[in-house]
Amino acid sequence: MISVAPVKLDFVAEIGNIDLTKAISETQFSEIEAAFEKYAVLIFHDQPLSEDQQNSFANKFGPLGRPAAPFRPENTERLKRPESADISNVDERGDVLPEGDVRLLINRANALWHTDSTFKRVPAKMSMLCAQSVVPTGGETEFADMRAAWDALPEDRQKALDGLVAEHDYFHSRMKVGLDPRSVSPERRAMLPPVPQILVRTHPVTGRKSLYLASHIKRIYGMADAEAQKLVDQLMAHSTQPQFTYAHQWAVGDVVLWDNRCTMHRGRPHDPKLPRVMRRATAMDIGPSVQEGWKPAA
Ligand code: OGA
Ligand code: MN
Repeated sequence: MISVAPVKLDFVAEIGNIDLTKAISETQFSEIEAAFEKYAVLIFHDQPLSEDQQNSFANKFGPLGRPAAPFRPENTERLKRPESADISNVDERGDVLPEGDVRLLINRANALWHTDSTFKRVPAKMSMLCAQSVVPTGGETEFADMRAAWDALPEDRQKALDGLVAEHDYFHSRMKVGLDPRSVSPERRAMLPPVPQILVRTHPVTGRKSLYLASHIKRIYGMADAEAQKLVDQLMAHSTQPQFTYAHQWAVGDVVLWDNRCTMHRGRPHDPKLPRVMRRATAMDIGPSVQEGWKPAA
């Protein structure tokens, strides 16, 4: 049996008595999956996974997604597989990237509260980070429990939100962190068109509802832009209050995975001169969050 030690209420748990570098049995995986559904963030220590080991573990949760990296210069890949996301501030030689390098755009965007890949029609179900180089202070990853945030809303507020659909746009969050819209070619723009996502999700396993927010939200259908922005800002502020959040302090070999269907997260700042190297694998959701054939009202 794996061990499950709650770290924060029904939100974060530390998993032990398992070696993820070895083949995982069906039973062990069902135990992990049960913990994943009950909690939303799982922490494993001392699991120095190879890229392949990490991807094959992540693949048990669903088909692997490929990171959207429209700004990565050609031939600068540090990782082997197109499914692996390089969440680091170093180049192919391991040297820390200079300020202003376009590859740092992803880190800057990751510093905003978000949910992974909501800018894709089929968003991320589960993301898994494996820590390879860590910084002594700062650089935590902070998580917000969007089920608890939903539960804490007054009923009339819940009623008003349920059923709303937001438009998520990859470039929207990048522009917030300094991407010049004029630098985005129509070809790049067309690679990642804006997509609809419902604002309130129901977890397919637990039936619990949660707010589905991300820095990628550009507007809410049927609502004036200013009003939608105000609403999203308010909900973001509500959801990220200390009672709903947890910050993970990284050690090398930590593996942390989270349920993107009911959490948000962000990376915390650190000394940009120090290397921080994470590798991410992502399992995709089973389908779009909006119903088949959903169209905005004319
Ligand atoms: C991610 C992410 C934050 C961090 O990998 O999806 O948002 O702390 N990372 O690196
Ligand atoms: Mn992320």
